[in-house]
Amino acid sequence: MPFEWHSFPEAKAAAEACAEHIGREIEEALGGRGYAALALSGGTTPKPMFACLAAMKLPWDRVQVFWVDERVVPPTDAESNYKLAAETLLVPARVPQRNVHRIRGELTAGAAARAYAQEIREFFGLDPGEMPEFDVVHRGMGPDGHTASLFPGQPLIEDRQGLASAVYVEKKSMWRVTLLPGPLLAARSTVVLAAGPDKGEALRSVFNEPYDPVLYPAQLGAREGRPVVWFLDRAAARLLEGAEAAG
Ligand code: 6PG
Repeated sequence: MPFEWHSFPEAKAAAEACAEHIGREIEEALGGRGYAALALSGGTTPKPMFACLAAMKLPWDRVQVFWVDERVVPPTDAESNYKLAAETLLVPARVPQRNVHRIRGELTAGAAARAYAQEIREFFGLDPGEMPEFDVVHRGMGPDGHTASLFPGQPLIEDRQGLASAVYVEKKSMWRVTLLPGPLLAARSTVVLAAGPDKGEALRSVFNEPYDPVLYPAQLGAREGRPVVWFLDRAAARLLEGAEAAG
């Protein structure tokens, strides 16, 4: 698969390398367009990466921050992806509030998804059917190969027209709002940060099984859309061919 992947001895090193890569992509976008549009995921893995990003001297006043997905909870909730980013990146890096385009998890899932899709349309000035081109999309991957809030078997994974949707995640018993495949595939650059031994099996399937994003959602972007760069720790990469050699 046309993946570029890098394995590091520890999760912290993978997080640092991922942050540096995002920083370079942001700088390149700023040089070209004067601003950069970044979309972040949540969960637990990104925390050290966000801290590294916050410590980089980037012109954050010219970086527009969006989310790949969000849990439908208030922004003060411990489950909120916005809260995680605010505490580890937005506040420390002093990202202006006007640059923050959070998914409003305090609304109902449907209302939050509609509001977010409208905010994306307005920011990017999209014509009907047009996709936003985020400069950098940061994604994670779950132990089941999900990415964003697109879990295996989710029919929305075949949607290439929509921007964002509410999804009920059975295994988490919670509503989420997620970007749909269209914006994920249209990203100018995508990074996936995955760490921990529980990601090993999914990574092996995502990298080696035939392309089937409904079964392995993290494969999105592997064959259609632009390249994806993976940052892994050794524990997550342990089942990949040549893992010992890389990193
Ligand atoms: C979320 C994320 C999700 C995450 C994976 C991995 O809202 O949870 O966007 O897609 O990237 O579930 O999560 P961990 O980093 O916690 O393993």
